[in-house]
Amino acid sequence: MHRLRTRWLLLAVVTLAFLAGCAKDAPQDTLEPSGTYAKDIDKLQKPVFAIAIFVAIFVFALIAFAVWKFRSKETDPSYDDLPEQLHGNTKLEIGWTILPAVVLAGLSVVSLPLIFELNEEPEQALQVTVTGQKYWWAYDYLGPDDERGGDNAEYGIEAAFTTANELHIPEDTEVWLELESKDVIHSFWAPKLNGKRDVVPGRTHTWKLRAEEPGVYSGQCAEFCGTSHAFMRLKVVAHDRASWDEWVANMQAPVDEPTSGLAAEGFELFGTRCASCHQVDGQWEDVAADSPSAPNLTKLFTRDCFAGCIYDLNDPNELEAWLRDPQRKAGSLMVIPELTEDEIDRLYAYLETLK
Ligand code: CUA
Repeated sequence: MHRLRTRWLLLAVVTLAFLAGCAKDAPQDTLEPSGTYAKDIDKLQKPVFAIAIFVAIFVFALIAFAVWKFRSKETDPSYDDLPEQLHGNTKLEIGWTILPAVVLAGLSVVSLPLIFELNEEPEQALQVTVTGQKYWWAYDYLGPDDERGGDNAEYGIEAAFTTANELHIPEDTEVWLELESKDVIHSFWAPKLNGKRDVVPGRTHTWKLRAEEPGVYSGQCAEFCGTSHAFMRLKVVAHDRASWDEWVANMQAPVDEPTSGLAAEGFELFGTRCASCHQVDGQWEDVAADSPSAPNLTKLFTRDCFAGCIYDLNDPNELEAWLRDPQRKAGSLMVIPELTEDEIDRLYAYLETLK
């Protein structure tokens, strides 16, 4: 009975694994790459996988053959005796050391150049600094006089700006990322565009992307970083030329402070409750360097998602629920004294003007 159940369970697990491979809507399917570098990896992955399958079949076949050929029957007079004891076979041992070494050496000839290529900085690229932290991503688009050395004038960027969770890029353009962490190790991963890149505190790692088509590519943190690791998602939004120019122009345009109504009241409230951590460029003084790290909310409503891309910004209920209780996402650093429903309405009205 117990055995039967184990078999069914095993069958169910295997079937599920196969069915998972059939998913139609799989936005993070590495086997359907859309970016130049993800395609390069995919091109390499296929022959490597084929070779691995061939080796596996060869080894399993040998094992099956040996088990079948040298099995002993109950009727054999020697059935209860120990089998003949062997020690070592120099020829075989040399063989099974050299053969895999040759296979691996062959694979490295094709895979090493790609590893180097993926790490090479393109001659011309949009430069963005990515900062991973518990549990969201900040993106700094470097302006011409940024000390980090970015010159993004080529892409219409005349002044530096910052956004969060959604990385916007122009289609068919090299994007060079400098990855930094504020706290623990994270890993930046947009599977359809490129492989994973660890983001390690105290270091700057680099990575690159190139989306061949406009579109929205989802991704996530791929290194366990704490309680909300699974909720540290991201999006890469690749624009066509016209919509990129529009996005960049809007990101650099100032936003007027609301002067009347609920939004103006929300603006005041934001100043006392939120502005010491959340930056809004041009409206409030820059937050102190040692203040708790919080997403820059300038142009908040140009985004579709917030809080590590797990909540939908287009659904007012989600943002209101967040203001009511930011701890609904475990480990969130956002701590605000309880807001009344009335205060939440005012804040929402103000935030909505940030677009
Ligand atoms: Cu950040 Cu996992």
